[in-house]
Amino acid sequence: MIPGHVAIIMDGNGRWAKKKSLPRIFGHKQGVKTIKEIVKAANDIGVKVLSLYAFSTENWKRPQSEIKSLFSLIRQFIRKELRELNDLGVKLRILGDLSKFPENVKFEIKDACIITSQNTKFELNIALNYGARQEIIRAFEIMTKQGIKKLTEEVVSSFLYTCGQPDPDLLIRTSGELRVSNFLLWQIAYSEIYVTDKLWPDFTKDDLKIAIVAFQKRRRRFGGL
Ligand code: IPE
Ligand code: IPE
Ligand code: MG
Repeated sequence: MIPGHVAIIMDGNGRWAKKKSLPRIFGHKQGVKTIKEIVKAANDIGVKVLSLYAFSTENWKRPQSEIKSLFSLIRQFIRKELRELNDLGVKLRILGDLSKFPENVKFEIKDACIITSQNTKFELNIALNYGARQEIIRAFEIMTKQGIKKLTEEVVSSFLYTCGQPDPDLLIRTSGELRVSNFLLWQIAYSEIYVTDKLWPDFTKDDLKIAIVAFQKRRRRFGGL
């Protein structure tokens, strides 16, 4: 079975650059190239939803210069790839709090989401200024405001950024770190986790296939026998 939803913690850009004695931003640039390859590959393989962790609520702790470069790369990616993504039938969704972003950035991102909103072949989630705890608090704030009293898992899910999408079947983390770093905490309750030592800029479509094959060998029990 092909996992319907694959989530990826794209980690290791900085280490990739360091290994080559380059500034960290070169790692991020190469990481964007990997994003392009992996989006296409996931679509070809038959994955329906791909969630990519691009910037966490904790990443604001990084130096201003790195944050600026990261956002400019993400903007460039959306701007440059929009047409091709649209042609591929990709529907773009942003997971995270865009409210603190500059107006022009917000506009551009929202515009890209609107342009691709009718696409149904493949959903690409980019997590930007995303933190799972923030997402859960936000959901409860909205539910409180709306006076929702009957809480079920379905109701809570419907107020998360991923509303309407299935939970990730497979969570991949590159660069060997064994933690989830505040990514999709609610949604990964029963995801299969796959960690590779490959750094994100070195991750290829073949690595994605290897991760999926490993996933296919797992026996998911969901608490049963
Ligand atoms: C992942 O690479 C990209 C982001 C978190 C934005 P890192 O920048 O975390 O790279 P390492 O972990 O320092 O190698
Ligand atoms: C996780 O990577 C966040 C993203 C991939 C955007 P980090 O590099 O920020 O995570 P930690 O600090 O190693 O947990
Ligand atoms: Mg990292």
